[in-house]
Amino acid sequence: MESVSKRILPQHQRRFLPTDERKLGFGDIFSDHMFKMDFHDGQWRNPRIEPYAALSISPAAMSLHYGQLIFEGMKCFRRQDGRLALFRPEANFKRFANSSHQLCIPQIDQELALAALKELLFVDQDWVPHTPGTSLYIRPFIVATEPHLGVRPANEYMFMIITGPVAAYYTEGFAPIAIYVEPHYSRAVPGGLGEVKAAANYAASLFAAEEAHKKGFSQLLWLDPCQHKYVEEVGSMNMFFVIGDELVTSPLAGTVLPGITRDSVVTIARDWGLKVSERPLAIDEILAAKKSGELKEAFGSGTAAVISPVGRLHYNGQDIVVGEGGIGPITQKMYDEIIGIQYGTRPDKYGWVVLV
Ligand code: COI
Repeated sequence: MESVSKRILPQHQRRFLPTDERKLGFGDIFSDHMFKMDFHDGQWRNPRIEPYAALSISPAAMSLHYGQLIFEGMKCFRRQDGRLALFRPEANFKRFANSSHQLCIPQIDQELALAALKELLFVDQDWVPHTPGTSLYIRPFIVATEPHLGVRPANEYMFMIITGPVAAYYTEGFAPIAIYVEPHYSRAVPGGLGEVKAAANYAASLFAAEEAHKKGFSQLLWLDPCQHKYVEEVGSMNMFFVIGDELVTSPLAGTVLPGITRDSVVTIARDWGLKVSERPLAIDEILAAKKSGELKEAFGSGTAAVISPVGRLHYNGQDIVVGEGGIGPITQKMYDEIIGIQYGTRPDKYGWVVLV
């Protein structure tokens, strides 16, 4: 495996974390260094850690025109014992490989990527925040850099990892959010990119999300693109519903992102003995469950969002209050379990934690 070269800022040129970690927000602050690697002449080359800085790429870089761009989202947690921990990073790099495949991007060596990430975290370890609920968000991504305006897969790419300290993804924090159920627009189609982490999926969501924001909703639940009948995902998270005694989430049938937190929730809930179904769930079934009093809880799962309670859905002019509109017991228990494993306050019986 090629070794990672380093150009590291001297201590006096490093920037510092804001002192009030509760005001971190999400995605605005970046650590001192970044990892970079280039693909050209048929090979990934020159893995290196450098000071975080603007990129210089051609205005004709193919990703800028045709969107050949994939990414991942991961977190590094500071534990009470002072150790730094990653949560299922191999799963992220495996999904990254699937995304590469789908977008005709040459795959990176997953072992090298994890080793490089650990080195980057070691260099910027002071950037991992200390306050409960905060973490260092990690964003690996690949962009096509070849200057060319014909539509085909590029021959040159850059793989980068940037990081930055974050608090909760939603301004609501761990408080119930209201979600607009989108009756008209679609996020992804069967045979498309919905199951990989392509920037294009997020671009496709913006117009509808803006419309939902104007109506006062911070998030939007996508329905299936063919019939607009079955719930899919929220874009920033997968969705779970507690209906009667069943925990239901949409199946991974091509248009839904296979979330790593989603998989963790399914595994943990099955272990708890809950009845977990990955099955099509019609919005009409949710409405009927509301009527019969069986709609107990709803929550989203994602790396950035962790576990996010959903208190209310809005569909075709109707408000659907979930349970009592607060945080349900399964939602709370799942949140406690997942963050407990991530921060090392609960046993990691599944072997998901990778210490840095
Ligand atoms: C993540 O959860 O890490 C994501 O990539 C979702 C993004 C909307 C922040």
